[in-house]
This record gives sequence, C-alpha cells and structure tokens, in this order.
Amino acid sequence: MPYISLNRVSYIYSGRSMPAVKDITLTFEKGEKIALTGTNGSGKSTIARLMLGLLKPQAGTVTLANRPIGDYSLVEIGERLGYVLQNPTQMLFTTTVYDEIAFGLRWKGVRGSELDKVCKNILKHFALWPLRNKMPLTLSEGQKQLVAICAVLALKPAYLILDEPTKSIDTFRKDILLNALQDIGHKGTGIIIISHDQEFTHRLCNREIKVFDGKVATDGSRC
Ligand SMILES: Nc1ncnc2c1ncn2[C@@H]1O[C@H](COP(=O)(O)OP(=O)(O)O)[C@@H](O)[C@H]1O
Ligand SMILES: [Mg+2]
Repeated sequence: MPYISLNRVSYIYSGRSMPAVKDITLTFEKGEKIALTGTNGSGKSTIARLMLGLLKPQAGTVTLANRPIGDYSLVEIGERLGYVLQNPTQMLFTTTVYDEIAFGLRWKGVRGSELDKVCKNILKHFALWPLRNKMPLTLSEGQKQLVAICAVLALKPAYLILDEPTKSIDTFRKDILLNALQDIGHKGTGIIIISHDQEFTHRLCNREIKVFDGKVATDGSRC
C-alpha cells in the first residue's frame, strides 16, 4: 500500500486559464528517496502543495496512509509529512534560531532537558549552534534554509519534502545536509527533493520523477 498517492489529480489556480497540474497519478511508498525535477513552472511546487493538502485539487484524489488527505488536519499532516518551502523566509516566525527548532518540539510535548538536548544536537550537527540566539530573519538565505530544514527534521516526520533545498547553501553546509539526509534516509524516512541540483539528488535519490507542463514526463528508478 502506498504511503502517499495522487490519483488523476488536476489543479488550476484561480484566474488562470491552464491547469498547473494535469491528470497526474503518482504513488510514493514509505521510505522512498525521490528527486522531483523539471523546468521552472512545470508544476513541481504545486504537486508538493497538493500532497500536503495545502491545495485542494479540482479533480482527482490525494491520499495519505490510505485516507483522503482532506480527512486530516494540517497539524496531523505536518506530523507525517515535513515540508520546507522554496522560500524559507515564509516559514520562520520566532525571535531566535533556537526557538525556531524548539517550537514544533514543544507543540509535540517535548519539554525540559530532552527539548534542550534535541535542539542542541541538531543545531550543532548543522554548525548552527553559534547562531542560536540570532533572529532568524537576519540570517543569510542559506542559513535560513538550513534553520527551516532543521526545524522540520527535529520532528522526525515519515516523509520529508524539500523544495529547492540547496538553492542558497554553500558547499560546506550542503555536505552537512547531504549527510544528514542520507542518515535519516537509511533509518527509513522517505525523502522527496525538488531540485535542479543533480549532483546533490544523484547522491541521495534512486527514483526521479520528471515533470513537464503539469504532467509526469518520466518516472523511473536510476541505478
Ligand atoms: N499562486 C499561484 N497563482 C497562480 N498561478 C500559479 C501560482 N503558483 C504557481 N502558478 C503557476 O502554476 C504553474 C506551475 O507552477 P509551480 O508549481 O510553481 O512550478 P515549479 O515549482 O515547477 O516551478 C506555473 O505556470 C505557475 O506560473
Ligand atoms: Mg517551484
């Protein structure tokens, strides 16, 4: 049974004449590592938003663990699917980097020394510990991206959906991110990466879905 499935899904943004996603059928098993590729405007981010229940398709169905995505609250979806937007600034809202990581954990009921341990570990792992008291919105784009990714990683979702995660990240931090993703990938977390960075996705993913003009152009495993 697939973990996430899109069945004949179409989506058209209001005011647009052409659908952004056209009759797409895709299934994702637990633990897969997938690169979602395609030129700008081909519909990748829209597919991610549909999978996350952030957009409701005008046709077709999206299911998560065999239940319609519409049956879940956004919080319930967030516990299963961790998502980092293409523009991380939209996701950062606390006053310190530390709180950005701690917020979701507190929401899940993690408290006290356990909370501190998880935050410290992840910030140190990503070389963000020296920035822990900084205001997230004052960081560089790459640092913001990593903080947003860390905040989601800390919650240990079943699937991680990253939209253009390496866009503004330097090679040093890219390697840290790659290692962390390989590590959680080995432990069974599913990963979907929307990216043009083939060097990065080739080292992580064994399936590539190419989207063109709102449709799936190719979907295959790579050796
Ligand atoms: N909020 C929006 N309102 C209207 N049209 C949009 C919106 N977001 C994306 N689109 C359009 O939908 C199509 C697919 O966009 P998108 O999913 O962002 O592609 P990609 O992520 O592959 O670059 C494009 O034609 C884009 O212009
Ligand atoms: Mg996009």
